[in-house]
Amino acid sequence: MPGWEMFDESEKRQIDEVMETGVIMRYGFDANRKGRWKAREMEDAIRGLTGAKHALLVADGTAALTTALAALGVGAGDEVIMPPFTFVASFESIMMAGATPVLAEVDDTLCLSPESVRDAITPATKVVMPVHMCGAAAKIDELQGICREKNLLLLEDACQAFGATYKGKGLGTIGDAGCYSFDFNKMVTCGEGGAVVTNSREVYDKAERYHDHGHDHKNSDRGLEDHPFLGYNYRITELHAAIGVAQAAKAERFIAIHKENKKIFKDAIGTIPEVTFRTILDHDGDSATFLTFFLPTEELARSAAKAMKEAGTEGVFHWFDNNWHYVRNWDHFKNRKFISPVSSDILKGMKDYSKVKFKSDELLSRCVSISMKMGWKDGGAQRAAQNAARAIKSVL
Ligand SMILES: Cc1ncc(COP(=O)(O)O)c(C=O)c1O
Repeated sequence: MPGWEMFDESEKRQIDEVMETGVIMRYGFDANRKGRWKAREMEDAIRGLTGAKHALLVADGTAALTTALAALGVGAGDEVIMPPFTFVASFESIMMAGATPVLAEVDDTLCLSPESVRDAITPATKVVMPVHMCGAAAKIDELQGICREKNLLLLEDACQAFGATYKGKGLGTIGDAGCYSFDFNKMVTCGEGGAVVTNSREVYDKAERYHDHGHDHKNSDRGLEDHPFLGYNYRITELHAAIGVAQAAKAERFIAIHKENKKIFKDAIGTIPEVTFRTILDHDGDSATFLTFFLPTEELARSAAKAMKEAGTEGVFHWFDNNWHYVRNWDHFKNRKFISPVSSDILKGMKDYSKVKFKSDELLSRCVSISMKMGWKDGGAQRAAQNAARAIKSVL
């Protein structure tokens, strides 16, 4: 999956172009930069690939979520509904915005369950934040329907789903705003990077100012720019953006490679009667970065993951045991282990998640994913897929 598997001369060329001018900051220094604006170029590429009207490149995916929440007006006293299967950045960004995370359940798409979202809504709910996990869509039509009915905002965490679509629309571009991550493990990587996309000029303008200390970016002298409101620093550097420009140019090829490899794995593993697959709502739009399936029991899933790892299968995840992606092992969050006091506005309405039993355990405990490599060559994907299938069969 990671875009670094496919690094070539193009990333180096892009970095050289920045270093020839020495301007590694995305704003200002117009006279020195010889017309080179790598962050802007990457933003053009993001708009082109996703169909979003506006795109803002930022320092990372977590910064993108925090910025998007702020631009949507989320803060003290607001609740944001998120899934328990995601990355810790979901609750981190909500709490950074000063709001309270409310965890609902996932269904067999492995994304937010619309029924569970309905149950989680309270008068304080402001945003529903589905996560398009492992490169494929949540039930975004239904979630959007709920948001419209209840007058809530929809923020798509598409950090794992850049380039994926649902019914022809780029994931991330359907709600009021969407976010991508271009961190080192993502299919398109900047090393570190993220983006906020939106079709609203107002949300974009707020995000663009908020992520750079409130600068209004209307004056070529940064010292003379206005600050219509307070912001922070979530800027990307031109060096990171330059890597992203080279990577984004290959995104469509990356997805095609993933789809080919995922089919090879699905054909091999699909012959095992005990295996059932995650529901993919739009196969054409799947970025195919993972093959995700269920085994009949938690123990079988754990043993199959172990057997595959021992047999040399790379990128195997039994998410239930993972410390970062499923609520079960988020001890720091559940037991409120903070480095400094956290606002009572955030905590006062927050459930005691150390005591909550999630229905999602039933699915996640039986769930295994294999990350698709792009670097397989000369039948490597076929061999890896057969090897993985053999390992799974060995524990059944
Ligand atoms: C679902 C999800 N949201 C947010 C993020 C945060 O992105 P970053 O690592 O760029 O901060 C990630 C990163 O893995 C993610 O998987």
